[in-house]
Amino acid sequence: MSNMVVFGAQWGDEGKGKIVDIMTEHAQVIVRFQGGNNAGHTLVTGGRKIILHLIPSGILHADKLCLIGNGVVLDPDVLCREIDELVKGGIAISPVNLGISKKTHLIMPYHKALDQAREAAKSGPDKIGTTGRGIGPCYEDKMARIGVRAGDLQDLDLIRHKIDKALLEKNSLLQNLYQQQKIDSREVLEHIRPLAARLVPYLTDVSHQIQTARENGHTVLFEGAQGVQLDIDHGTYPFVTSSNTVCGNASAGSGSFYKAQQVIGVVKAYTTRVGQGPFPTEQTNSCGEHMQVQGAEYGSTTGRKRRCGWLDLAILREAVRLCGPTEIALTKLDVLSGLDELRICTAYEYLGQKVLYPPQEENALKKVLPVYEELKGWKEDISMCRKLDDLPENARALIRYIEQALNTPVRIISVGPDREQTIR
Ligand code: GDP
Ligand code: IMO
Ligand code: MG
Repeated sequence: MSNMVVFGAQWGDEGKGKIVDIMTEHAQVIVRFQGGNNAGHTLVTGGRKIILHLIPSGILHADKLCLIGNGVVLDPDVLCREIDELVKGGIAISPVNLGISKKTHLIMPYHKALDQAREAAKSGPDKIGTTGRGIGPCYEDKMARIGVRAGDLQDLDLIRHKIDKALLEKNSLLQNLYQQQKIDSREVLEHIRPLAARLVPYLTDVSHQIQTARENGHTVLFEGAQGVQLDIDHGTYPFVTSSNTVCGNASAGSGSFYKAQQVIGVVKAYTTRVGQGPFPTEQTNSCGEHMQVQGAEYGSTTGRKRRCGWLDLAILREAVRLCGPTEIALTKLDVLSGLDELRICTAYEYLGQKVLYPPQEENALKKVLPVYEELKGWKEDISMCRKLDDLPENARALIRYIEQALNTPVRIISVGPDREQTIR
């Protein structure tokens, strides 16, 4: 029995889905513990691509139990569609391999409407560039103690009562502040009714399921969404998501204590970011374009072009400090092939001083200047490499550099999107 955690060490989209899919081989239970369908986790097997937004990335493997923990915010509509898509693709989904915590908060239509209205009302530098999926407003209602939870799907009278109360406030905001249409509570309830009938069989006690798995000697794999720099407390606030993305939340977000034997920090060999917010190593030049095009850097959820830039050790040091990875999975190394010179940001200059970690003042990352070290690139296509020795020396030098700088071994190297394109 052991526990594993996989987390994103940058601004999300590091390739967590692929790494969770691979590591599922060693686990029996896979748990999502935060975020919602703002996440888009891509799995590619034998050339077939599947993007998951809510269901844990272990679902392609037979005989595994995938759980959606209480820390997730769940859009019932999206989950039902995701189940349908997977079933259409020949993947069996039933309460035997998928469970939802009764304590998971539900994203309601008014959360999405508010998220979108707020973003539309913001201008210029105030925009966050959210995914518009209702994530923030749903977490707000959870904290305000007025949320609708998955367990409530068993009691539509309770849901009706909660919707009526919530809409008193939401409609006032939507109509008066944002000049949007009023949302009708009956329509919301009728929208929920068939979804409730479908999802109630999946409701479970996730905390208890994890405990039972442990008693049976099983390994539990916790799947993080987003990345450390999008954490509500530790990320580039206010340009962050609305949950704690750091590994510590695996415990609160699933209802289990855990001592993780294996903590895998997923690090993209360069950096990307979707949406607004500071990004010190961003490259709006031919190097950034190389990463964007070769890495096919389009958001898996919204299709937006991802901003691209050099690897940033300052934010990675912080990810190590916050999450304590036992190892790194280095992804998308193949994307750097063809660049003559590579740059790595080793520190920042901030207010005349050299700093090794991101300063904590709001928007400090807008004011830092990256300090770069140059490394030699390589020309060869490495997407067919399956052993460390197959990689060009300059690629191996980059890996050694990262290991030393972060004092953490790189144990998985990903050289393409497919499950097979991996060196371990
Ligand atoms: P996640 O949100 O962290 O799971 O990452 P996404 O799935 O949103 O984004 C990662 C993208 O890179 C997906 O399109 C993956 O299929 C792709 N990908 C993952 N690993 C590699 C790799 O090593 N090389 C290349 N070229 N693509 C990769
Ligand atoms: P995965 O799990 C990349 C970003 C959004 C926006 C900010 C807030 O696929 O790595 P939100 O809708 O959460 O309120 O938006 O967070 N964001 C992500 N960026 N990958 C993700 O998830 C993200 N989830 C949210 O683009 O900047
Ligand atoms: Mg993603």
